Amino acid sequence: MKTLITYCTTHGCTEKTATELKQFLGGEVLLINLKKEAVNDLSSFDRIIVGGSIHAGQIQKKIKEFCNEHYETLKNKELGLFICCMEEGEKAEIQLHDAFPEGLLLSAKATACLGGEFDFNKMNFFQKLIVKKVSKVENSVSHLNHDAIKRFSQQMNQIFNPFMFFV
Ligand SMILES: Cc1cc2nc3c(=O)[nH]c(=O)nc-3n(C[C@H](O)[C@H](O)[C@H](O)COP(=O)(O)O)c2cc1C
Repeated sequence: MKTLITYCTTHGCTEKTATELKQFLGGEVLLINLKKEAVNDLSSFDRIIVGGSIHAGQIQKKIKEFCNEHYETLKNKELGLFICCMEEGEKAEIQLHDAFPEGLLLSAKATACLGGEFDFNKMNFFQKLIVKKVSKVENSVSHLNHDAIKRFSQQMNQIFNPFMFFV
């Protein structure tokens, strides 16, 4: 089983999440940061996981482009889609649904909001200003959801067995 985790990160949280996911997935797992490397040939992968983070309501443009460019291939793979963000509950779910094409969300084996982090050491002046004003947060904080990361990888690891319907 060969898995590709392809992601975009602005301040490193999605990269941390992708690395944590990798630990729980079986087989060979390759991590690719789409901002640094391009992936053109997806044919050798059995599973593909795509993840990005939400900034001002939007996932990274490169994730959108990747999903559109490889739409048909992704639809026919064992697919996982996730976002990192600081919103929770319904707002996070809306952001997840806006981030990926509807057809991919429907065909994916696992989809999830895996939490997020505010890292003030990595933000520029304007980002700090926005986060302080909108989220009323003054210091770095992590809400990375480690249980959700584990659940997501368990869903990805599940093997479909047609005989399960007969027991
Ligand atoms: C300037 C800025 C804008 C953000 N906007 C949103 C947002 O609209 N919705 C949200 O849920 N989280 C938002 N966040 C939180 C990020 O999604 C969170 O910090 C995430 O963990 C970033 O992941 P990354 O480090 O991989 O980019 C924002 C963060 C920053 C710094």
